Amino acid sequence: MHLNVNRLEFCFNCQARHGISGDTNVQGEEVKKLDVLSNDLFINMLKSSFTTCLLVSEENPTVMHVDTERRGKYVVCFDPLDGSSNIDCLVSVGSIFSIYKKSSDGEPSEKDALRPGRELVAAGYALYGSATMMVLSLGHGRGVNGFMYDPSIGEFILTDPNMRVPEKGKIYSINEGYASEWSPGLKKYIEEKKNPSKGKAYGARYVGSMVADVHRTIKYGGIFMYPATKSAPKGKLRLLYECNPMAFIVTEAGGAASNGSKPILDIEPASIHERAPCYLGSKQDVQELLSFLK
Ligand code: AHM
Ligand code: MG
Repeated sequence: MHLNVNRLEFCFNCQARHGISGDTNVQGEEVKKLDVLSNDLFINMLKSSFTTCLLVSEENPTVMHVDTERRGKYVVCFDPLDGSSNIDCLVSVGSIFSIYKKSSDGEPSEKDALRPGRELVAAGYALYGSATMMVLSLGHGRGVNGFMYDPSIGEFILTDPNMRVPEKGKIYSINEGYASEWSPGLKKYIEEKKNPSKGKAYGARYVGSMVADVHRTIKYGGIFMYPATKSAPKGKLRLLYECNPMAFIVTEAGGAASNGSKPILDIEPASIHERAPCYLGSKQDVQELLSFLK
């Protein structure tokens, strides 16, 4: 992972690596050159780490098996480059990953990845922003730690120990372009944030890269939402490698993460690329939203 992030940062500085690759991925989205490159880096690093047996990537339609001689006990689900629509305008992007320990006997199979987020043993993300930061949680009350990359020594330094999401924030984060497709409850909640019955209005921030929006939510508090809409009843974000790892980290940092009716970490996945509505951030803000969605 360490080398991965360094190499990705290097790659971001090469002009020839920007732009589209000419392909579409399993979800029918345009694939950028950096999507392909970062996916290759993730796969190569994970396979040659001798610690993994099964990989799930946003960019690959099916699970990837690791050769028997290089096999370890971990199952890794990842979005190698999240926020790719932001690459060409130089806005922050990131990488997201979640890790399960294989618990079944026999050959690794898709079932080993189709498990609720509660069973994760670790999750993290790297944010390539004004600095490069890796945020990691091993769960089970061990907290969330942030490591900033120091290019002068080529190391990640623990700069943000025991990260905590503020109990309540002052920022809401959602793509308001889809407001006409929202549920009445969500419309009312956002209206309340803009024109509150008491207190001050919330500020609005939406980068359009989940990693950047979630990182800001952890640092400053507030709520990040990618909701269910009329045309996309399960939202856009993918459960295994976007919602689950972020929910794992935010929950471990004292925040909350829900799909609107239950904690994201309790969802039983049925397929590796399935989507889920995602509402996460400060506990009080998520609770308030849920009361509107009811
Ligand atoms: P991607 O994995 O193809 O980059 O899509 C996921 C991204 C998230 O980072 C972000 O929250 C969301 O898509 C933004 O989507 P939209 O432009 O519909 O608001
Ligand atoms: Mg992505």
